[in-house]
Amino acid sequence: MSTFIKVCPVSELPPGSMKGIEHDGKRILVVNLDGTVYAWDGTCTHEEYDLSMGFLTGDSITCALHLSRFNMLTGEAVNPPAEKPLGKHQVKIANGDILVEVA
Ligand code: FES
Repeated sequence: MSTFIKVCPVSELPPGSMKGIEHDGKRILVVNLDGTVYAWDGTCTHEEYDLSMGFLTGDSITCALHLSRFNMLTGEAVNPPAEKPLGKHQVKIANGDILVEVA
């Protein structure tokens, strides 16, 4: 069964912005792309760097450590050195808050 945790009010994550959270020692990256919110594993699949330290441009995030790029619509790694995609978390909006699924 899925559990959802509150991230923040939708108003605190405007389009084009992102937020990193941690739950049970696991990072989750929450991004707002043109008004749709997505949540992905927040740790780079290359050398486990915190992706919330990276740069969100358009629909992709660039890891600040070795500049791998991940598509924030699909989780796919689109630039080496990372090769593996990011895991996805389901997102719900309830009462004006963003909720994300955690394991
Ligand atoms: S840790 Fe992200 S690209 Fe190397």
